[in-house]
Amino acid sequence: MKPLLLIAIMLFLLTPLFLNAGPYETRGIWDENTPVYQVLKDFGDPMPEHYIPQRDPEVVKRGEEIVKYGVTQGPDGTTSNVQSQFFVCIDCHNLQREDPDLRASDPEARLDYAIQNRKRFLPGTTFYGIVNRTTWYNGDYQRKYGDFAAHANKNLVNAIQLCATKCAMGRKLDDWEVQSVLAYFWSLELKLRDLRLTESDWRKLRLASLQPDNNQDLIAWLKGFYLSAAPATFSKPPAPMMVSDTYVPDIENGKAIYVLSCMSCHKTGGITSFPLANSEVTYQLLRDHTAFGANFSVYKAVRNGIKASPGKGYMPNFPLQRMSDNQLQDLQAFIKNQATHDQLPLEPFVDWIK
Ligand code: HEC
Ligand code: HEC
Repeated sequence: MKPLLLIAIMLFLLTPLFLNAGPYETRGIWDENTPVYQVLKDFGDPMPEHYIPQRDPEVVKRGEEIVKYGVTQGPDGTTSNVQSQFFVCIDCHNLQREDPDLRASDPEARLDYAIQNRKRFLPGTTFYGIVNRTTWYNGDYQRKYGDFAAHANKNLVNAIQLCATKCAMGRKLDDWEVQSVLAYFWSLELKLRDLRLTESDWRKLRLASLQPDNNQDLIAWLKGFYLSAAPATFSKPPAPMMVSDTYVPDIENGKAIYVLSCMSCHKTGGITSFPLANSEVTYQLLRDHTAFGANFSVYKAVRNGIKASPGKGYMPNFPLQRMSDNQLQDLQAFIKNQATHDQLPLEPFVDWIK
């Protein structure tokens, strides 16, 4: 207890000093809302290549509109061409935090978090905190997209362009558009609040604010609170009749996946020509095709994705980090239940994907 008391007294006495500390005017007054990058910068960490100091609200708004609607008003006042005929970015990416613990990419924790926070459960990673990552299109995406992915791996602008053309099946963004999306992404950077620091972590930070620059250990320590890259491992579809003697499927989870993931794209009037309705016919079709390992199998669709046919979009595959095999079993259990029993109502989830 004694050293802590000493530190507290020291901090109290020194407060006026570092409130007025020249170029590091934010030092020591970091709070929950302080961007993580601000602290890293104060520690002497060089800013990444995609860093932009200016965040003009007009430009951020343009970026937000491109991401949400695929069109915006350009700097010259005219409406831009739609980015993709098939998708908008948010068909596959959330805009809010989606992992309760930013140090792990755990689909089961993410689904619980999605249910608590009324979020969708999607194949792409969230744009929240995307500027805090240092590589993109990791793991098996490097294989999937070859040379394209190599360019995107170390460079966020290239990653945006790769996704605009390959994932969203649209055109390359103009320079002003990609800069707008980047500016919008910076508005979604991680804040200290997101790291869920404990009291003692905060004490460590406050104390560190008194130390000289180039504090390598502290930089590494702070970066340890979140993943610097989203891992991606592809997998094969599980065996059609997969039954595990150790895992008991959870139908409620299956329902959440069906709505917050599948239906968010496959809703009536959505981006596919194959609506997944809350109807016995649909459930029976999905159940039987999965049981026989046939083409409409949900296991196959999720693990392999579905190729685009002329005039239509494709379905992205889900890596293990975005949907686990246990979750696939939950989904299949839910489908089976809906096909044979009294159907569970899809409320309240359906209201969240409107
Ligand atoms: C049809 C689905 C889909 C659409 C539409 C889509 N993306 Fe993606 N995106 C993905 C998937 C899948 C990945 C790879 C997994 C991931 O997020 O890391 C990805 C990855 C990314 C990444 C790298 C993320 C990382 O950490 O590895 C960026 C940046 C990105 N997308 C930007 C965009 C932008 C900007 C748009 C809209 C112009 C867009 N995406 C539209 C599915 C999509
Ligand atoms: C990002 C959007 C998206 C998500 C999320 C998504 N799908 Fe798809 N899915 C598509 C598209 C696009 C197609 C292509 C079919 C079409 O439009 O005709 C497709 C096709 C399919 C097909 C094959 C239909 C055919 O025409 O052969 C099945 C089965 C399927 N999806 C099931 C699912 C299930 C189950 C989930 C949830 C785990 C899911 N999808 C999630 C977009 C999505």
